[in-house]
Amino acid sequence: MRECFEVRDWDAAGRIGELEVPRAGVTVETPALLPVINPHVRTIEPSVLEAKFGAEILITNAYSLYGSDEHREDVLERGIHDLYDFSGAIMTDSGSFQLAEYGTIDVDTEEILQFQRDIGSDIGTPVDIPTPPDVPREQAEEELATTQERLELAETVDTGDMLVNGPIQGSTYPDLREAAADHADGTDLDVFPVGAVVPLLNNYRYADMIDLVAAAKRGLGEDAPVHLFGAGHPMMFALAVAMGCDLFDSAAYALYARDDRYLTVRGTEHLEDLDYFPCECPVCASTTPDELEAENARERERLLAEHNLHVTYGEMRRIKQAIRRGNLLELVETRARGHPTMLDGYRALVDHAAQLEETDPVSKDAFFYLSSESAARPEVLRHHQRLERLNAEGNVLLSEGDTNEAYDETWRVTPPFGPFPRDLSDVYPLNAEVPERLDVQAYEQAAEGVSRLVAANPDATFTLAYHDWPETALAAVPDEVSVYQLGVEDGDWD
Ligand code: GUN
Ligand code: ZN
Repeated sequence: MRECFEVRDWDAAGRIGELEVPRAGVTVETPALLPVINPHVRTIEPSVLEAKFGAEILITNAYSLYGSDEHREDVLERGIHDLYDFSGAIMTDSGSFQLAEYGTIDVDTEEILQFQRDIGSDIGTPVDIPTPPDVPREQAEEELATTQERLELAETVDTGDMLVNGPIQGSTYPDLREAAADHADGTDLDVFPVGAVVPLLNNYRYADMIDLVAAAKRGLGEDAPVHLFGAGHPMMFALAVAMGCDLFDSAAYALYARDDRYLTVRGTEHLEDLDYFPCECPVCASTTPDELEAENARERERLLAEHNLHVTYGEMRRIKQAIRRGNLLELVETRARGHPTMLDGYRALVDHAAQLEETDPVSKDAFFYLSSESAARPEVLRHHQRLERLNAEGNVLLSEGDTNEAYDETWRVTPPFGPFPRDLSDVYPLNAEVPERLDVQAYEQAAEGVSRLVAANPDATFTLAYHDWPETALAAVPDEVSVYQLGVEDGDWD
């Protein structure tokens, strides 16, 4: 059992958790945002992050401090919390990012971990190798082996009560990511960042990102806190949380502000393209795009960074509330409509429905069917798994929905779930809110449910009375079921 992390609520693979950071003497609620502080360019002061935005944790680069004539001695003497005037938890990165960027750094894992401990970091990081996407497999394997050696070395360094990250690499090979996670889970390291996803995110490869996070999650225990390294755009937070990411670090709020880019939960806008601010934050409520453009560069950068932070923290709160209410997947589905590549990400997420189902609560408030992807949600899969185990007695008559009184005395077949006893129609998730104009995927899933029930009951006879099922869904109904099309005279179809 990992001592430092406790999950409070689940929704799909998303969770609200508590990360106990002993060195800081604080407990951080997750999912959490870690704003990146560049020691040389403090766009927003850490004390402002704490006072104005409620920041409980931030991240900064220990290697930048280590190599800095200006800060090195000062931070060793005063400690990082004093230097930054921040009383929450501080995570430090190791220089791996510089390694990826410049090919070499002049520090090793042991030395940088000791430096992180000495400056008072609360969560330190060894020098992992961020292998980029799409490299040859041999390179991914070799670099992963080196990363794994460094995680093992990190276990032997005296890090006191500082928590230590165990980054998970493996490029775009899901099996390597899973093996890397399995290995990291077996160390006594504390937090597990999924590394080297920045190039994927920069290229909008959200589906690939989800597949790699899913792979890493399979190798990690449920009690492992997971960080998505370098992911700071609020557009993808809900998606990544639903796959089980707990921590995010954002440099985007500051980097984007520097070149007049404005974050929204639907994507990024350039200030010059905005005639109105589509946001309720204090910055946007009190100024206009024209007025902001007329400000001097420094003030414009500060105000844009504040807006970007408001949006970013606001999305985190929305996600946590959605987890509490059990409608995180509805939020992901909404975000998936912001950008076609986000839709790819959501489709990749529901491709992992079986994995999401393992931690999805058995009961939630209401299932809202919002798009054809809703048909592939874990709740539907779970119902099918139940049908597979269910032995129906004797002859079972299946009717479509509640539209025909003559046929629904025992079971109904309601898209997207498929067959269920009428008595359960008020029970979650079968009491789903479903639109009248359903798409073919919902019927196909209902047919899949019929197939599972039939397979579990080889001796029973089934009749499916249907009204308006599309051809492809009917074709998916097993041959053992006699299919009976209802005419208008058989019922009231209003
Ligand atoms: N920041 C963004 N990606 C990475 C990564 O893969 N490793 C480390 N240490 N820091 C990162
Ligand atoms: Zn705003």
